[in-house]
Amino acid sequence: MANRLLRRIAEEVLGGEKARLVWSRIDIIGDIAVIKRPFTGGVDLEDLKRVAAELVRRLPYIKSVWLAYSPVEGPYKTREFIHLAGEPRSETVYVEHGCRFRVDIRRVFITPRLNYEHIRIARLVEPGEVVVNMFAGAGLFSIIAACKSRPRTVYSIDVNPDAYRFMVENVRLNRVEDVVVPILGDAARVVEERLVRVADRVLMPLPELALEYLPYAVKALRGRGTVHVYLHVHYPRGTDPLKTSERLVGEALKALGVRYKVVGSRRVRPVGPRTLQTVVDVVVESVKEEALG
Ligand SMILES: C[S@@+](CC[C@H](N)C(=O)[O-])C[C@H]1O[C@@H](n2cnc3c(N)ncnc32)[C@H](O)[C@@H]1O
Repeated sequence: MANRLLRRIAEEVLGGEKARLVWSRIDIIGDIAVIKRPFTGGVDLEDLKRVAAELVRRLPYIKSVWLAYSPVEGPYKTREFIHLAGEPRSETVYVEHGCRFRVDIRRVFITPRLNYEHIRIARLVEPGEVVVNMFAGAGLFSIIAACKSRPRTVYSIDVNPDAYRFMVENVRLNRVEDVVVPILGDAARVVEERLVRVADRVLMPLPELALEYLPYAVKALRGRGTVHVYLHVHYPRGTDPLKTSERLVGEALKALGVRYKVVGSRRVRPVGPRTLQTVVDVVVESVKEEALG
């Protein structure tokens, strides 16, 4: 419904050809609309400002519109933004699966496009589990899991001080202080210093570091346990992105001397030309002592 409206507004302002490049790249985060820069040219800043003004005028739930003009980048996985219309405010409250998240789109990673993945993982969490979320951002996976399932503890790590600050606030906002433990720091160091052999499940929602940090995910497991490894996979014609993902994770685990079983893999979302975010769900069955270092 929202998509159809966005499409209609973009078409009315820009005409069909240009609108096609814009409407599918609009995300609604709380009362903020974010237009991600189109992959191809043909749409200029003035075009986007006209669409943005129309969004604010016609959709009362949108108070502010921003252009995300850089890709997600840097260690904190944030973007550069230009304000296009409405209130020049980048902080909002985003609601997902009945949980509330205060975020600043300029300071923390946030996308509604992980919506299904957040609830999928939450539903896999069994009562009493200890979960380590190595790359937690503003706390979406951790808090949704805490609200929807009954984990004992979710250790929720992020290296970005702003993400940590919002995560602490979101834990309070959703009343899961007794379950979610926000931790500021580098996930590898945090695991080494305080989370060795504690977890039944580890989440690794940062494709750029997933394979490098896999040894720490394995260290965090207290025995048999599940790791959810998110990857970015380029798939040239004739290749299968899920098979490639499973192979990459398998090779990394074999190198650690770990017995494992892939229990699932799925396409999460497109992130570039012939490039997908994927997730591999893997059960680690046994770990050699040497792998624990
Ligand atoms: C893709 S975002 C996480 C998204 C979040 N899980 C969600 O669903 O909204 C990746 C996060 O990893 C954090 N990060 C990057 N390097 C890290 C590290 N070495 N240790 C811990 N967190 C890290 C970034 O600050 C960023 O918030």
